[in-house]
Amino acid sequence: MHDFYSDTKTKPSRAMREAALEAVVGDEQKDEDPTTRELCERVAALLGKEAAVFLPSGTMCNEIAIRVHTKPGDEVICERSCHLINFETGGPAAISGVMIQPVDGENGTFTAAQVRDVIRPASRYYPESRLVCVEQTANMGGGTVWPLEQINGVANAAKEAGLATHMDGARLLNAVVKSGVPAAQWTEGYESCWLDFTKGLGAPVGAVLAGSTEFVTQAWRIKQQIGGAMRQSGIVAAMCLYALDNNVERLADDHELAARIAKTLTTFAQVDRVLPADTNIVIFDVADTAPMASEIVESLEKDGILAGAFGDRRIRLVTHLDVDEDAGDALCNSLTALLSKGG
Ligand SMILES: Cc1ncc(COP(=O)(O)O)c(C=O)c1O
Repeated sequence: MHDFYSDTKTKPSRAMREAALEAVVGDEQKDEDPTTRELCERVAALLGKEAAVFLPSGTMCNEIAIRVHTKPGDEVICERSCHLINFETGGPAAISGVMIQPVDGENGTFTAAQVRDVIRPASRYYPESRLVCVEQTANMGGGTVWPLEQINGVANAAKEAGLATHMDGARLLNAVVKSGVPAAQWTEGYESCWLDFTKGLGAPVGAVLAGSTEFVTQAWRIKQQIGGAMRQSGIVAAMCLYALDNNVERLADDHELAARIAKTLTTFAQVDRVLPADTNIVIFDVADTAPMASEIVESLEKDGILAGAFGDRRIRLVTHLDVDEDAGDALCNSLTALLSKGG
């Protein structure tokens, strides 16, 4: 199968597994795992923050950050299509007791003016606006890279009003590779931010959440409370270190393949819209004359290709280190047969 469903489907390479075999390990819960410590130090430096904490998943990074930044009844501002609203099982409400104020942005991004518009005035009747979250890249926007000025503008608007700022950096390194802007520059305006190792970087487990020393101390308390503290986590941290050393620059190949797929789709009679494919995610809407998105996904599966249907008409394809040029050719051939001719 050529699996374009998600970049989370990557499997650790032999070399990555060998890195795990060699890892020096200890008890992470007691800060005694040297490999995990090294990973946290490297990510903190990469993101320009004082400290960092290793967590099992990106979801836990978002949920812990929200819990640290807010108190029950507060309001969190973020874009309507973002992961923490749609794919974290109501975690912000369940874990932190917060409300969400969704902003309708463009391809997953929004503006400083939109933030200012939705910040609540002080009143005993309103929830307190407390936190602004951005996603870089914006997954359901089509892997959008935020313009630097815009993402800084959003952070400044939040800060001027006394709000905290958080960046979901599940695919931040895709933005870094695409833009040439260093990670620490993207994260400068954000008090907390994180990297996921299980997307295009190809590791099987792990994300690292970074911020000030005080933020990370609080994050550690929540990690301990909800059972996220680990033991010999160096086994997986070593694979994350391997990913940092070997799998970052090659993200450019994923971007190239995604751009090629997106370009092919724009020529099809039965495709209404292709979102700008900035990085490794291609999202497109099929015309009313085409079969339903779920039916197209089923047809692709019969050709040995996995894709994701999101709604009746929308399909998502994601490139990553386990789909190569040949897989891209196979995908484009199948899509051509299904969608290139009028319905
Ligand atoms: C933008 C974004 N944020 C957060 C997550 C959650 O990451 P994890 O699967 O590591 O929990 C994902 C996962 O797909 C994502 O795409």
